Amino acid sequence: MPSVQSEDSSNAAAPVALRGDLLDFTGTPDWGDVDSPAVRFRPDHWLLIKGGRVCGVQAEQPQGSWKLHDHRGRLIMPGFIDTHVHMPQLDVIASYGTELLDWLNTYTFPAETRFADPARSHAGAELFVEALLANGTTSAVVFATTHKVSADALFTAAQQRGMRLITGKVLQDRHSPDGLRDDVLQAERGCIDLIDRWHGTDRLSYAVTVRFAPTSTPEQLAMAGALCAADATLYMQTHVAENRAEVEWVKQLFPEARSYLDVYARNRLLHARSVLAHGIWIDDADRAALQRSGAQIAHSPSSNLFLGSGLFDWRAASGAGVAVSLASDVGGGTSLSPIKTMGDAYKVQAMAGQRLTAWRALHAATLGSAQALQLDDEIGSFETGRMADVCVWDWAVDPVAKRRMEVARGLHERAFAWMTLADDRNLVQTWVAGVLRHGRAGA
Ligand code: GUN
Ligand code: ZN
Repeated sequence: MPSVQSEDSSNAAAPVALRGDLLDFTGTPDWGDVDSPAVRFRPDHWLLIKGGRVCGVQAEQPQGSWKLHDHRGRLIMPGFIDTHVHMPQLDVIASYGTELLDWLNTYTFPAETRFADPARSHAGAELFVEALLANGTTSAVVFATTHKVSADALFTAAQQRGMRLITGKVLQDRHSPDGLRDDVLQAERGCIDLIDRWHGTDRLSYAVTVRFAPTSTPEQLAMAGALCAADATLYMQTHVAENRAEVEWVKQLFPEARSYLDVYARNRLLHARSVLAHGIWIDDADRAALQRSGAQIAHSPSSNLFLGSGLFDWRAASGAGVAVSLASDVGGGTSLSPIKTMGDAYKVQAMAGQRLTAWRALHAATLGSAQALQLDDEIGSFETGRMADVCVWDWAVDPVAKRRMEVARGLHERAFAWMTLADDRNLVQTWVAGVLRHGRAGA
């Protein structure tokens, strides 16, 4: 699908009005509630965008100097938010035959080593950011590699497209191959330089990025915690309790910690801006610690299935008041499509004897993750004043999905069929800050 270089992309201030079926959320849908009052569905309405922001929604066609985009009969939603994904891992997506620790050593670490090359980092970041937009993701929390240049490349690619993006150079100073290890001093200097240049610039934020506990020395974890403690606006991203062999390894490496999560808590890495991927093998005390801290779990169902990691207990997390967002975790995950991620999330919950509503899934990929990231005044809904990160979708593209839509009864049934059957082929347009950044040919 082509990128768009249209008249719209040169003028963020041009007022634009998009017509279609507007769907967003005003609150958190209750678990299992298919008739949730938190769903805001405004069929055949106009979304008004001025200066890159949402400035209103109305049923009547606006009068005056609006550039009108008539998408009658299509679904219009806030751009999706992917809260955990690896830029350099497009080269290893769909790699055969391993669980987490072997997968890292066999495929992932060698691929990431190549990002020391600025040209590789630049090309990888460009491909990655375009692929996000082509899947309807307008905001993301992203792992670069240990090389500073990879974070620079990613920030630059996002900045050029006006995107909300959170990333950082990966911290890993042990149990990693040559070319991928940093050291505490060099890593600290790298982080500080990147924070100075990028954190709070345009729509970009820095995340202190600990790969996972086994690949950082206690000294490096302490350094990362000190960075977070010095600036509460910094994010922190890492992995936790993904795989049983990994959990055993952490037990051996950090015998003083009560649990894997506790390794991070002891190092001041568990706070309201922490994004922890997976969290499959956690207990009630961990869930209570997550809830107290305000940290979120980035649930990554396609990765968990593909790497055979386990079934995340979303219901238990939710019952304990833990924020849960949705993530692709490519390249452990098998698709950058948030819709496919939601479909896989439903199946993981089904395996665990639970039922995930379309509302709960769509909320987690929009307003829910925006709130968990403390960014709901910027992204995640169509409230007036939010940045106009918007995607236009076909409800159905192929004959089977079209037939399913024809016989769907009620809004939840329709939204659930869409969430289960759609993918990037359904995407008609992606707008970022009121600028058309991706469009299907002929749309
Ligand atoms: N744990 C440490 N690094 C990684 C990674 O790159 N992907 C996943 N899924 N888990 C990890
Ligand atoms: Zn990951």
